[in-house]
Amino acid sequence: MLAPGNHKVTCLTRATSCNDRTTPGRAASFADASAPGRGAGTLARVDTLLARTADDAARAARELLGVVRRTPVERARWLADPLGVDVHLKCENLQRAGSFKIRGAYTRIFRLSDEERGRGVVAASAGNHAQGVALAASLLGVPATVFMPEGASLVKERATRGYGADVRFAGTSVDAAVDAALGYARSTGRVFVHPFDHPDVVAGQGSVGLELLEQVPGVSTVVVCLGGGGLLAGIAATVKQARPDVTVVGVQAEGAAAYPPSLWAGHPVPLETMSTMADGIAIGRPGDLPFSIISRYVDEVVTVSEDAISAALVRLLERNKLVCEPAGAVAVAALASGRLRPTGPVVATLSGGNIDPLLMLRVIRHGMVADGRYLAFMTAIRDRPGALAQLLARLADLGANVLDVVHERTRSSLAVDDVEVLVVLETRGRAHREEILRALAEQGYGVHQAVEPATAGGASGAGAP
Ligand SMILES: Cc1ncc(COP(=O)(O)O)c(C=O)c1O
Repeated sequence: MLAPGNHKVTCLTRATSCNDRTTPGRAASFADASAPGRGAGTLARVDTLLARTADDAARAARELLGVVRRTPVERARWLADPLGVDVHLKCENLQRAGSFKIRGAYTRIFRLSDEERGRGVVAASAGNHAQGVALAASLLGVPATVFMPEGASLVKERATRGYGADVRFAGTSVDAAVDAALGYARSTGRVFVHPFDHPDVVAGQGSVGLELLEQVPGVSTVVVCLGGGGLLAGIAATVKQARPDVTVVGVQAEGAAAYPPSLWAGHPVPLETMSTMADGIAIGRPGDLPFSIISRYVDEVVTVSEDAISAALVRLLERNKLVCEPAGAVAVAALASGRLRPTGPVVATLSGGNIDPLLMLRVIRHGMVADGRYLAFMTAIRDRPGALAQLLARLADLGANVLDVVHERTRSSLAVDDVEVLVVLETRGRAHREEILRALAEQGYGVHQAVEPATAGGASGAGAP
């Protein structure tokens, strides 16, 4: 087991909630035995908890046989080459109902007594947990009601209904949906299925850890997407119990990173605001049980930017032909952004693949901008025959692929014999983009970039376990 004091919280990118306590990129120890709740007695209790959780996950894996897919592990050479170590992707995006969530939900409902199953279950979620609970309940013949916030994705709502759950809307946030679900549980006797803060849920998610140990026996580092912590806690318990030498790393979106300040404080600390495209991991407060396991056994928690997430999602599509939702791609984002320098072989989890086509379009666009492969600019040209053709010919000479052109004549600030043109290009990368901008400037085009990497097409959301 790891000695206390060797855990790290690393703020990898711009402003994260732990920046006021540490320099970006610097790792800091948080497992200080003098911190509140971290005395020797607490650690001993957590050791027992770890052993119990790992055993419980092994039982869950047996209960899940024939229910969940043993998802494949794919190699990612595009990640491996720059890092100089083998990288494998554990593809829970290909799991039934599109994410690992079925594992925890099924384990929890399977272990209910007949009397509890008869009362039925209730959950609150805007996404993957809703689908996991709905599918698990239908497989076990248990009635399920799921409260979703107004405005939850239509695709996820339809899928949840499609698995047979009674879907109801409550409020505009997941917190409001949780309140409604808890009220419903109290008034009807239904069993509330928590998305991450329950031993059976953590045990079910832990079955991912057991699989990956079998699939990549020589694994040295495991990198896991982190929201409330059920998945990471389950994986950390199973992996550390069997192989204490393996490094386990959690990854959060920097706009919704509740773990770094909580780890520093030694207890779960709620976030006041969240903003990230990775709605699956936008959880405002770590779960108590996952926190107690993660704070003791996870070696490092890092954060990644929105640009890193969208760029990773595009690369996974392109290079591995794998569809991921933003939350599902954060482990890969930590590796691809070059900020994590793991020992290999590495296993990175792809935790989910449920993404609306419209969000996918926006994220791809954002990812291409982040990768320097998309350029939109405005320029003024003379309003005379051939001027536009000349601009397009220059772009063709520069090897740029024109995606769109908009011709604007009416803006009052334009000279009467000028027109403004918005040109959208696909480029080969950052260097090519800079070459095009430089060449246009040299040829006398006054170019105004319409889309900057940090601002293009992002989505924001919060609290969708
Ligand atoms: C795709 C995806 N990845 C990761 C997570 C985070 O899981 P946890 O809350 O157990 O940390 C979620 C949670 O819903 C998710 O949907």
